[in-house]
Amino acid sequence: MKYTVVLPAAGSGKRMKADKNKLLLELFDKPIFVYTLEVFQRDPDCEAIWLAVKEEERPLMEKFVKEYDIAKVKGFAVGGTERQDSVRACLDMIPPCDVVLVHDAARPFIDSEVIGRLVKEAADSGAAIAGVRVKDTIKKAESGIITETVERENLWVIQTPQAFKYSLIKEAATAASEAGFLGTDESMLVERLGHPVKIIESNYENVKMTTPDDLIYGKAILESRRQEEQQ
Ligand code: CTP
Ligand code: MG
Repeated sequence: MKYTVVLPAAGSGKRMKADKNKLLLELFDKPIFVYTLEVFQRDPDCEAIWLAVKEEERPLMEKFVKEYDIAKVKGFAVGGTERQDSVRACLDMIPPCDVVLVHDAARPFIDSEVIGRLVKEAADSGAAIAGVRVKDTIKKAESGIITETVERENLWVIQTPQAFKYSLIKEAATAASEAGFLGTDESMLVERLGHPVKIIESNYENVKMTTPDDLIYGKAILESRRQEEQQ
């Protein structure tokens, strides 16, 4: 099942505490966002890649796209203040297609098997997002005092990719923009239209490179994948 991917890459990576966009930090010998691009370049079902980037970072990112031969990159949108604005800028540019996948450029370890299940579900029912089951005990607290232990059974940690029929995500993005609604993921924009969104169980390796300790975990994932390939 074919799809187009939109990759928001226009953040500043404040929590990473690097002096530049975290996506340009290298894991071993390659910038983080190049690993992400390579997943989609390799996936035969991915037809086109669109990136939202900061205007001033575009030349550098374009240079990496050429250097690593990511030929499926069809265009760059200028990212906005919020992640939602960056995704919207891409959605405004992409030609109509069946399924759009939105994926954080900062999640380089996504595997194509999960992508395949997401795209199939989105093509069937309209909307599907990746998530993993909560592993820890979750409690609510007020002023540092526990008020509730939340039942874990129905809790999910939501990730990207999030996959949608093109017409649905366009409608949801337009409606959110008209209402001045800001969500933390694309699913929220679709949920507020009352459209059901299916969770597809992903894996814990699909971590977002957010804080410096994530880089340690990221390198460990790459090491273990390299060892597996050599066996
Ligand atoms: N992103 C974007 N435009 C923004 C903000 C974020 O395209 N205005 C992108 C980031 O580049 C990243 C993804 O959205 O690939 C997920 O966001 P996040 O992990 O929060 O990255 P940053 O916003 O860069 O990091 P921080 O919140 O720590 O500043
Ligand atoms: Mg952010």
